[in-house]
Amino acid sequence: MGPVIFSRLSMFPAVLFLIVMVGCSNAEESAPMETNMVFYLQDWVTGPNVTAVPVAGLKNSTVLGFGTITVIDDAVTEGIERNSTQVGRAQGIYVNSALDGSDLHLAFSIVFTNEKYNGSTLEIQGADRWPLTQREVSVVSGTGMFRFVRGYAVLETAYFSGFNAVIKWNVTLRHY
Ligand SMILES: *[C@@H]1O[C@H](CO)[C@@H](O)[C@H](O)[C@H]1NC(C)=O
Ligand SMILES: *[C@@H]1O[C@H](CO)[C@@H](O)[C@H](O)[C@H]1NC(C)=O
Ligand SMILES: *[C@@H]1O[C@H](CO)[C@@H](O)[C@H](O)[C@H]1NC(C)=O
Ligand SMILES: *[C@@H]1O[C@H](CO)[C@@H](O)[C@H](O)[C@H]1NC(C)=O
Ligand SMILES: *[C@@H]1O[C@H](CO)[C@@H](O)[C@H](O)[C@H]1NC(C)=O
Repeated sequence: MGPVIFSRLSMFPAVLFLIVMVGCSNAEESAPMETNMVFYLQDWVTGPNVTAVPVAGLKNSTVLGFGTITVIDDAVTEGIERNSTQVGRAQGIYVNSALDGSDLHLAFSIVFTNEKYNGSTLEIQGADRWPLTQREVSVVSGTGMFRFVRGYAVLETAYFSGFNAVIKWNVTLRHY
């Protein structure tokens, strides 16, 4: 009996080592992949071919007044120019959610129309504190090629005139 117990005990570290090894290789297999993409969101509220329309609001129902709800179907383009190649549409709403007008709460999908991601979406939610040079919103999930993704987008205003804006999006995604 004595030697048997001894040899079983001495097996223990080896078994533990194996479990640790297996655990590590599983962790490596499921390590997230990171994807980075940059595009521009064309938010045109006035002038020809408007794609962002304030639909409800309080006393000051401009895009930049507290309480205004804006519905968008904005072009998402490769470059800053309005006529630059379209890669998708930003469809949904943003709501001005700061008493001083300084925060647009984003709640929309980026629906890709380009060949690579056609039909897939990214779901966007977050505080777009537009007076800041840089701000960050969440990519809460996605569909199609972006199922289960999570990430964030760094936003910068590339063009702003009147209520029209072109926003540069630098998106970092993790796929599991
Ligand atoms: C508005 O749309 C029309 C028709 O698609 C197009 O011809 C025109 O160039 C557009 N204007 C702007 C400023 O995008
Ligand atoms: C509406 O709100 C915007 C942004 O806060 C401000 O620039 C504008 O002067 C306001 N307009 C009125 C009529 O209060
Ligand atoms: C886009 O518009 C600019 C003027 O705003 C023009 O110079 C350029 O040629 C246009 N590009 C395309 C691809 O139509
Ligand atoms: C994207 O898919 C739609 C149908 O789902 C199709 O009509 C369109 O041509 C496709 N676009 C590209 C760029 O593949
Ligand atoms: C996007 O962000 C990444 C990471 O912060 C950075 O390395 C890259 O230069 C940015 N790309 C552009 C075009 O700004």
